[in-house]
Amino acid sequence: MKNYIVHDEWNIIETGFDPALNKISESIFSIGNGRMGQRANFEEHYSGESLQGSYIAGVYYPDKTRVGWWKNGYPEYFAKVLNAANWIGIDIDVDGVPLDLNTVEVIHFQRVLHMQEGYLSRRFGARFSDGKEVEVEAVRFCSLVDNECGAVRYRITAKNFSGKIQLRPYVDGGVRNADSNYGELFWEPVSKHIGARRATLTMRTKKTDFWVATGMAYEVFYGGARLSQQEMTIERDDYVAKSVSVAASAGQTVEIRKYAVNLSSENHPKSELVNRAEQLLGHVVVKGFDRLLAEQADAWALKWAESDIRIEGDIAAQQAIRFNIFQLNQTYTGEDDRLNIGPKGFTGEKYGGSTYWDTEAYCLPFYLATAPRQVARNLLVYRYKHLPKAIANAEKLGFSGGAALYPMVTMDGEECHNEWEITFEEIHRNGAIAFAIYNYIRYTGDTAYLAEYGLEVLIGIARFWAQRVNWSEARKRYVMLGVTGPNEYENNVNNNWYTNTIASWCLSYTLDALSEVQQSATGQYAAIVAKTALQASETGLWAAIIDKLYYPVDEARGIFLQQDGFLDKELVPAAAIPADQRPLNQHWSWDRILRSCYIKQADVLQGLYLLEDRFDIETIRRNYDFYEPLTVHESSLSPCVHAILAAKLGDEARAYQFYLRTARLDLDDYNNDTEDGLHITSMAGTWMSIVEGFAGMRVRDGRLYFSPMLPKQWQAYTFKIKFRGALLTVHVTPTRVNFSNTGEQAATVHVLGRDHEVGPGSTTAVPKYEHVR
Ligand code: BGC
Repeated sequence: MKNYIVHDEWNIIETGFDPALNKISESIFSIGNGRMGQRANFEEHYSGESLQGSYIAGVYYPDKTRVGWWKNGYPEYFAKVLNAANWIGIDIDVDGVPLDLNTVEVIHFQRVLHMQEGYLSRRFGARFSDGKEVEVEAVRFCSLVDNECGAVRYRITAKNFSGKIQLRPYVDGGVRNADSNYGELFWEPVSKHIGARRATLTMRTKKTDFWVATGMAYEVFYGGARLSQQEMTIERDDYVAKSVSVAASAGQTVEIRKYAVNLSSENHPKSELVNRAEQLLGHVVVKGFDRLLAEQADAWALKWAESDIRIEGDIAAQQAIRFNIFQLNQTYTGEDDRLNIGPKGFTGEKYGGSTYWDTEAYCLPFYLATAPRQVARNLLVYRYKHLPKAIANAEKLGFSGGAALYPMVTMDGEECHNEWEITFEEIHRNGAIAFAIYNYIRYTGDTAYLAEYGLEVLIGIARFWAQRVNWSEARKRYVMLGVTGPNEYENNVNNNWYTNTIASWCLSYTLDALSEVQQSATGQYAAIVAKTALQASETGLWAAIIDKLYYPVDEARGIFLQQDGFLDKELVPAAAIPADQRPLNQHWSWDRILRSCYIKQADVLQGLYLLEDRFDIETIRRNYDFYEPLTVHESSLSPCVHAILAAKLGDEARAYQFYLRTARLDLDDYNNDTEDGLHITSMAGTWMSIVEGFAGMRVRDGRLYFSPMLPKQWQAYTFKIKFRGALLTVHVTPTRVNFSNTGEQAATVHVLGRDHEVGPGSTTAVPKYEHVR
């Protein structure tokens, strides 16, 4: 764990330059706008340790699979998010000597992520070996308004000398992925177009043939005036730079404004890419840096107006939740149903940058409650569009008749994960995708979604479960063999309680959805039945499976068993593991982990969280008390589920502990892995820990239920919720909860056994509450 980020309500601040922390900070200070994003690499050359990363949404490379022992059914490739052309680069020479923070003396240094306005800044003073000192101030952002555009303003002041400052803004397409199975270069050059004070480099990905045109334009100012002296162009196949020199007097500042655009063939015809890149460059240059920055602040103000959480009396917690919200909004804006939320977003390469069950199980509630409906809907439509590939994926594994197995990891619907115990066995992901449809409709009331898209997905998923279980003559029950539950520290187990439970839930929900559509949209129902060739015998079988599916339980303890035989393990609480052996995945052999009782992330508890209405509070408590002490939380997705359950059980202290662990996971580098990128998907879990945890928000029968608690470390907290045309600000204080509605529709909130109607423009105060569920 580290503790170097300065606590501040709206800003993430690093003071002083420690090269050992640089890769961590590059992740933390990342910027993005849903279309593109990048790590907080320096504009000027840096020869120290760095992970360069500039990413374009939807552009990937099918890196050929690498495994020790090939298993039939493995995918041919692992889709990797691509490190794309570097567009921020501006090399600086001072009297011929490169400015490089790895070789000069750094006098002072500060990096700030301005979350309120959506930009990154850096200031530093540097002394060269000959005593010359410069002062630098750099500002940059990825524009939310012109979302194919980014801009940099870089000011360098000659502090104590007069001399030549040479600036070389460039676009470099010769970048490599750190994560590449065979060390290949994924890009090759297509073309360069060079004009006065601008240049566009087009690169294409090998195999996938995505084209990306990266254009840059720049302006240089000295003494407040724009300079127009000669420039020199430097070119290589995959690189283009412009070089200009300014004779700077002592105390004077040279400023360069660099505008960049990234247009991909996903959004523009290849033949038009360069033209459009140049047009867009013209557009942003005319707007100018200051206006772009002002528009950026306005766009972020709108986002914050709908998604901010305010925590009074705890700056560390305040900073953390805003950081999580900021990064989620930088990663996914929901305008494009081909895009999704990679576990690292635009902040690193780990996990391939692809889509996991994280989206449905963790991220959906955040976007449902803080963004226009379309944003969450597009996450669902993404999976609908992948249904044919999910069916093909299931066929490849031997299923038939329209059974769908969604991939563990994907970019475009094809499976690209290749560890048999996860790819073939961690099938509970199908359940999360079905649950997201239910969750979306429960929240929005958009029942038309079922007939439009949802039902077909549900039928494919139900068919998969019906084929994946088998009848056990010995038990006289259906069983599910050879699976991996959410707890990946157990593989190839039989009857994982979570998987069986979510499978049966999917079958029930699909049957309900069928009757719902049959009644409400008869024409569409007939069309779906015809399209999917659904047979009455299938639905009969689903009902039989629901009725006769086996669930492992321990009657004596009154708990669900994570899987068959779980109690054969030696049950020693995780607290007994010596600190120097944690995390287990870095210290123990895989064999030892598999045989141990330790749980990587919520598993039975994940089921109790998702399907809580099916269980009474004492059942939840007994299972929580049994499993929580065995859980090592070595997935970032774990603490939030525990925080929510702890809050539900009234255990404020533990809820708060888990909250802190999820909220500051990256800022304080809890898991020693922030340098690989941020844990974007678990950030949504942090949001859930407050809204569903402390505030106890649930949606039932079209109403919002609250059961708020206030951690004693906080004086009050406030969050925003968009719900069916209402925009609620929920303010929780020690003595009351206030609901004010600045939306267009009224909302009914249910607190302490009573409904309260909160009309548009009105505020309702619910006095003195206790924590009850
Ligand atoms: C977790 C999975 C998760 C993946 C990506 C793994 O460590 O066990 O549940 O989907 O990370 O976040």
